[in-house]
Amino acid sequence: MSEPALLQVLNLGRDYDHGAVHALRDVSFSAHAGCTLALTGPSGCGKSTLLSLIGLLDRPDRGRIEVQGRDLATIRAAHAFRARSVGFVFQFHHMVPAMTLQENVEAPMLALGVPRAERRERAAQLLASMGLAARAAFLPRHVSGGERQRAAVARALVNRPALVLADEPTGNLDSQNGRGVIELLVAHAHQAQALVLLATHNPEIAAAMDTRIELRDGARV
Ligand SMILES: Nc1ncnc2c1ncn2[C@@H]1O[C@H](COP(=O)(O)OP(=O)(O)O)[C@@H](O)[C@H]1O
Ligand SMILES: [Mg+2]
Repeated sequence: MSEPALLQVLNLGRDYDHGAVHALRDVSFSAHAGCTLALTGPSGCGKSTLLSLIGLLDRPDRGRIEVQGRDLATIRAAHAFRARSVGFVFQFHHMVPAMTLQENVEAPMLALGVPRAERRERAAQLLASMGLAARAAFLPRHVSGGERQRAAVARALVNRPALVLADEPTGNLDSQNGRGVIELLVAHAHQAQALVLLATHNPEIAAAMDTRIELRDGARV
């Protein structure tokens, strides 16, 4: 018997501007744990809208999303769902400027009540595994752009989320640093049996994912 999908998206629709803009139209797909999936298509095609609905940053106008068999519409405490089950990586790192990389990576574990010693240990280990041990005590502005974005990936993965939503995560990096970030995300999907959804308009990056979904004007191509 095949395993049930980790994520099911069914006839999803989202409008903006009181229905004047159809950002998503009747989008359906499913995806399994341990996979990487690229969302592709030109700017404005609905990639960010789709990720924000799956990550419960926004709610759909039509259709349904199920994560691990659970209909997201039934979830009232969106912040608790996000803290436990979702890791976000954006184009810009959004690190807290006054906190070191170590403290930034520890922060998501506070929401889950992870004890202090374990927070320290897990953040330090993850940063070390990303080649950032020597940068852990630095503030974000004192490390390179590539290092900051790797630390942002560490922060997204530290709670071992089932879903990782990455919105143009390499959009601000040169190709070598971009490849480094993609490798970290792919390795996480495989090792932690997570599902990585990655929005990109870079064909090389899309080709490195297990599957691709292409959008045009909010609909699947
Ligand atoms: N908050 C918003 N208010 C109004 N229109 C929006 C908003 N967010 C996105 N849109 C519109 O929805 C469409 C899809 O946008 P988006 O999901 O950001 O696409 P992408 O991430 O592929 O560039 C675009 O036409 C965009 O202008
Ligand atoms: Mg976008």
